[in-house]
Amino acid sequence: MTIGIIGAGKIGAAIARILARAGIHATIANSRGPETLTDLTTELSPWISAVTIAEAAQADMVFVAVPWSKLPAALAGLPNWGGRIVVDTNNSVESPLFKPADLGGRTSSEVFVGMVPGARVVKAFNHLFAALLEADPSSEGGKRVLFYSGDDADAKVEVGQLIERLGFFGLDLGSLAVGAKLAQFPGGPLPAHNLVRFG
Ligand SMILES: NC(=O)c1ccc[n+]([C@@H]2O[C@H](COP(=O)([O-])OP(=O)(O)OC[C@H]3O[C@@H](n4cnc5c(N)ncnc54)[C@H](OP(=O)(O)O)[C@@H]3O)[C@@H](O)[C@H]2O)c1
Repeated sequence: MTIGIIGAGKIGAAIARILARAGIHATIANSRGPETLTDLTTELSPWISAVTIAEAAQADMVFVAVPWSKLPAALAGLPNWGGRIVVDTNNSVESPLFKPADLGGRTSSEVFVGMVPGARVVKAFNHLFAALLEADPSSEGGKRVLFYSGDDADAKVEVGQLIERLGFFGLDLGSLAVGAKLAQFPGGPLPAHNLVRFG
């Protein structure tokens, strides 16, 4: 299975680092082009390579990690996702003001699903700060918990297996309507808790 990452900032780079640490290849893209990502790809060689957004979007599983207001521009013009898995790592709030975006009464994952037609969306990797996400998942002696949720059972199995392979304890929160709402920031009760599974 190929993996792509759209967005190479704090969360995109954190995901690249934990994939590289586990010896998993992935491509990564930002808005300015692959030539601006040489520091990151040198750090994470030979596992992570920089590509264009269109190339990263061709992977079997694509992480999207872009500031909320920039998602439409980042995803515009990409072909239908054709049933491939897209991992929504995004939160509907942006620094420095952290003013919640107007979602029109919907969950952020509902809005996100509308931006990736044909994708099987799994919400995950959004509820921890980047520095904690990229830290050793066993640094407290157990396994750090990563929540995930989605409406496609097979897509959730794939993401859950990857989470386990990366050394985390994956906790399936159910559908997007239920689970993504619990893990949504702002609004959900679960973000920012550093939960660790022992035993
Ligand atoms: N930071 C955290 O601790 C944290 C935690 C959980 C979830 N999140 C969520 O993760 C997402 C990313 O946050 P971040 O903190 O990683 O942001 P960030 O550090 O500001 O990085 C944003 C990335 O998005 C890229 N980007 C911006 N516009 C783009 C476009 N039109 N096309 C392609 N790429 C584009 C940027 O590329 P350029 O630099 O080339 O413009 C950059 O690589 C957000 O939705 C945020 O809510 C963040």
